[in-house]
Amino acid sequence: MAEAVKVLKAVEEVVGPLFSFQTGLVGGCAVDATASPLPAETISICNNARAVLLGAVGGPQWDSKRPELRPEQGLLQLRQRLGLYVNLRPAKVLDSLARISALKPERVRGTDLVIVRELMGGIYFGNPRGIFAKNGERMGVNTEIYREHEVERVAHRAFQLARLRHQKVTSVDKANVLESSRLWREVVTRIGRSYPDVGLEHLYVDSCAMQLIGCPTRFDVILTNNMFGDILSDEASMLTGSIGLLPSASLGEHAALYEPAHGSAPDIAGRNRANPVAAIASAALMLRYSFRMETEASAIEEAIERVLKRGVRTPDLPGKRRPTTTTHMGDLIAEATQKALKTARSRKK
Ligand code: IPM
Ligand code: MG
Repeated sequence: MAEAVKVLKAVEEVVGPLFSFQTGLVGGCAVDATASPLPAETISICNNARAVLLGAVGGPQWDSKRPELRPEQGLLQLRQRLGLYVNLRPAKVLDSLARISALKPERVRGTDLVIVRELMGGIYFGNPRGIFAKNGERMGVNTEIYREHEVERVAHRAFQLARLRHQKVTSVDKANVLESSRLWREVVTRIGRSYPDVGLEHLYVDSCAMQLIGCPTRFDVILTNNMFGDILSDEASMLTGSIGLLPSASLGEHAALYEPAHGSAPDIAGRNRANPVAAIASAALMLRYSFRMETEASAIEEAIERVLKRGVRTPDLPGKRRPTTTTHMGDLIAEATQKALKTARSRKK
């Protein structure tokens, strides 16, 4: 997060003051300070903000807490409170970085997809849920529910996004087994009729998982539910080489939250080893979607690409040179952003 803020401040140095930052606690640190993973003060800060930038929230020291006190609850509640029903997770393999993918470069080269994940429904939030005792034995229960309007609104977002990209939506479900998926498929098909210019295909989630590895370049927009989107987006991250590269945007009708797709990596916390690219790229998405600052967003993305192309690597990325630190990577991207921005601005004049 510190590196993302550093880059935003670097943007301000070129274009003048833009942002006012407010900080709120969420997740583990909030549990420690206030005994709640999402304190009221944080909710009010987020409600009053134009956009929220979120850092990862968990760690093993909080794992044994009661479920309602787990750090993840902070994030899940925030999604609900802010009405963030769609989560965009782009995974793009840059030509120059195809070598660091977990797969063979020739297989991933050209991959450029976005997972559109439903974020406020499904098995994450359905009732009944809990661990209940019945006939002298305990059972764990969760419920996958999708109401038509929940599918409709996220489907519209996926088709609209596909229009700006390569006009192809792959809707992913498990309609051969689950009723919630059958309804999902029916609704997505109906919404798709109002986007005749966009191609629509349906895949079962198991087949999609396979094809993401087998032929990742065939995908453009992948539309799917909360749980499948969680899993497939981690899988897609490996196409690019590291989940440390991937940003995400969570959007509602009014609010927006931007966060890296990765977790808190507690094994390296505080050691200046984390890859700041996902956080910085999330800030770029914020500029694009919430502030309509396309020039600045592109400058940051260009800067990330430049720095990675030069062979600068954090320890999560394979490379020949000795890996650098989180803060140094942040410095280099901040610097490259200013350069890219100045060039873009002089071109405009
Ligand atoms: C994610 C994370 C979260 C999720 C966890 C931390 C609750 O894995 O954003 O993908 O499952 O949604
Ligand atoms: Mg996840």
